[in-house]
Amino acid sequence: MLDEIKKISEEVSLKIKKIADEENLQDFRLEYLVKKGKIQKLFENMKNVSKEDKPLVGKELNILRSKTEKMFNELLVQFQTQKESTPDIDLTLPGRRGFTGHYHPVLNIMDKMITIFKDMGFTIAIGPEIEDDFYNFDALNFAPDHPARDMQDTFFIDDKRELVLRTHTSPVQIRVMQSQEPPIRSIMPGRVYRNEAINARSLAEFHQIEGLYIDKDVSFAELKGTLMHFARKMYGEGTKFRFRTSYFPFTEPSAELDITCFLCGGEGCRICKHTGWLEILGCGMVHPNVLKAGGIDPEKYTGYAFGMGIERVSLLYTGINDIRFLYDNDIRVLNQF
Ligand code: DAH
Repeated sequence: MLDEIKKISEEVSLKIKKIADEENLQDFRLEYLVKKGKIQKLFENMKNVSKEDKPLVGKELNILRSKTEKMFNELLVQFQTQKESTPDIDLTLPGRRGFTGHYHPVLNIMDKMITIFKDMGFTIAIGPEIEDDFYNFDALNFAPDHPARDMQDTFFIDDKRELVLRTHTSPVQIRVMQSQEPPIRSIMPGRVYRNEAINARSLAEFHQIEGLYIDKDVSFAELKGTLMHFARKMYGEGTKFRFRTSYFPFTEPSAELDITCFLCGGEGCRICKHTGWLEILGCGMVHPNVLKAGGIDPEKYTGYAFGMGIERVSLLYTGINDIRFLYDNDIRVLNQF
């Protein structure tokens, strides 16, 4: 029996040295320290030991059990403190990249346009997005029965149809004329709204930049010169131009400016619908009625104005083929620009 005890004791000493983790330690407990374990079995064998030998064998057995329990407990404490002090992360993993934001492509284009006009001496003016019917239509020489006033195009925001979400940035022209003395040289960027079906080519909410220059003897030639300079800076020095006559209630004469398609260089492609030309803005000489509405004497002063949309240019620049992608705010799209 003493030999048995010695054997188990040596076995325990060997095994305990090999224990590497808590799982091994539990296996060890199951082998030696539970009711059906090897040490308890030895205790059961005590009944076969002679009376004389019992005290010695019993003592040795007790020593074995307490030694084993002590080793088990020490290791258990060691593993548990290790677990607490080791953070549950892998410090060798590579770090995560920081996420940096950037301007939205539409803002980038606006910024570029604004900078070109600022360099030519234009100041920036801002007007309200909720406008009086007067500023949005009347003061801009829209006839009372002009179709643009129809519910189809305009979001009226009161029952009397006196307040609208501005349909263009042109009303800011009137506000600028009312608050400044000529010479006036301003650009007016901002958000505009139209009651239109949303599809791949148009949105109900978009951006425009308006321009206004008023002074003595302002001529159409100056308008052309300014816009040609702008177009060369914006779309490249080789850009060719085409002014087409047009109609807007607030300008007379009125024109639209086309440039050679900067994607195909005028050869003709899907974007310019194979014409080689892109329409980029509306412009003209400020109508005398508009000057009057702004409190400026049309006998003394003349001026020119222009207005252009930003989203379409953003599509051309980014190559995005559905305008809705610009505002879905999917960073997989926006991160590309
Ligand atoms: N307001 C016009 C529009 O929304 C654009 C425009 C055309 C503005 C001619 C102007 C202009 O200032 O002279 O379609």
